[in-house]
Amino acid sequence: MKTNRPLRLACIGCGARAQTYTQLAAGNPNRFQIVAGADPVPERVEKIRRTSANPAFRGFPSAEAILAAGRIADVMIVATQDNSHFEHCQGALQLGYNVLLEKPIATRAAQVLAVERLASQVRKRVMVCFVLRFAAFYRKVKDIIDSGALGELVSIQANEGVNPWHQAHSFVRGHWSVVNKSSPMILSKCCHDTDIVHWLAGRRCTRVASFGSLEFFRPECAPAEAPARCTDGCPAGDSCPYNALRYTSDLRFPWLPMVYDRAQEASADEITAWLRTSPWGRCAYRCDNDAVDRQVLAMEFEGGVTGTFTMTAFATGRHVEICGTRGVLKGGESFRQHFDTHLVLLPHEGEPVRYTVQAEDGGYELHGGGDAGLVNALYDEMTKPLDAPLEAGLDSTVHSHMIAFAAEESRLAGRVVILEEFERTHGKDA
Ligand SMILES: NC(=O)c1ccc[n+]([C@@H]2O[C@H](COP(=O)([O-])OP(=O)(O)OC[C@H]3O[C@@H](n4cnc5c(N)ncnc54)[C@H](O)[C@@H]3O)[C@@H](O)[C@H]2O)c1
Repeated sequence: MKTNRPLRLACIGCGARAQTYTQLAAGNPNRFQIVAGADPVPERVEKIRRTSANPAFRGFPSAEAILAAGRIADVMIVATQDNSHFEHCQGALQLGYNVLLEKPIATRAAQVLAVERLASQVRKRVMVCFVLRFAAFYRKVKDIIDSGALGELVSIQANEGVNPWHQAHSFVRGHWSVVNKSSPMILSKCCHDTDIVHWLAGRRCTRVASFGSLEFFRPECAPAEAPARCTDGCPAGDSCPYNALRYTSDLRFPWLPMVYDRAQEASADEITAWLRTSPWGRCAYRCDNDAVDRQVLAMEFEGGVTGTFTMTAFATGRHVEICGTRGVLKGGESFRQHFDTHLVLLPHEGEPVRYTVQAEDGGYELHGGGDAGLVNALYDEMTKPLDAPLEAGLDSTVHSHMIAFAAEESRLAGRVVILEEFERTHGKDA
């Protein structure tokens, strides 16, 4: 599709992610026009309407309603919760939309493969919001690998410190805390990481093994006499790092706006009243959570490249260490915070080289500029020839999901999972 007019964007789900993408898109009216949004929460639709500055913007109360209106845009942003991606993406593809799809593609392996088949049948594009692929940091890592400076690729070690409060907010109290209602942590949070390791390796994963469990955010770890809610006068309230009343003070931003529509303007009393009934007011040790708070993966890629990935609730930020036959590349959050650089290349012979990455837009924050990078790429991705590969299209991102699903199977079954077998079992080539 070649077009000189702005790409018309609509969204299913007008929550935090849709707001981020539409705000970024609204900054480039030559390329994007926001024409519609659907969400059962009217205030969220109104936020997108204001962002759009488009008098003809159309609001809808649900995915069903916007899909019933036919194809009213060029690209549908699917930014509902994980469990709905499959249905909403399928609905959009069937109407002939190209789709910007939030991760994960779907919450079951067979559904992910079904989306891939449908997109190929209807010859439409799906760009997956793996924003880290568009972040300046990871782009630099990829460039260094591709430049040959590391020699032949040997191994990739990646880790993600989710951060203790973030873990409690999202994976203990929040949307992704109960695996059966959402999806396993390795998918819901860390499909970004299986994707980054797969993308950097540049080849398919052949086998994966994984271990992990939930050990800390459990009732037996609760402070003595902690009540079910932090609003009920917890004796450990002053010293507990997970005290929900911090949503009224030092940890109000950026967390509260993700889950409470009145986060910007509400008084502390109002927030406290909301916490009395909201999931985010519960004692972090007394929730119904079963998402793991630690998990490791060992991966083998084609050609014998090896990869490891560690997810822990109890560190902050992502790091990578990549070993090649001619050098090692190390970088990530601690380098940025404490060593005033982002990446260090240590050749096996010669002097170290330091890199400080400047994101062109969006700075290093906000997924390392990845959110802005993704929206910047969206126009070209959606208008290039249909057969040209996308930067984050299904042909590569589906496999990143399969690594995550296979890892979860390995963790639960206690065995090494062979990816080819796993994909076949879930309907690949069906
Ligand atoms: N790419 C990333 O880095 C990244 C980061 C965070 C979240 N996410 C993913 O983005 C997605 C959205 O996350 P979020 O934080 O914006 O969530 P959110 O809860 O803020 O937004 C989801 C919205 O969908 C709406 N919704 C629910 N049912 C609907 C329906 N039938 N029709 C239309 N709208 C409906 C909800 O009311 C809500 O406003 C999730 O899948 C999440 O995993 C991705």
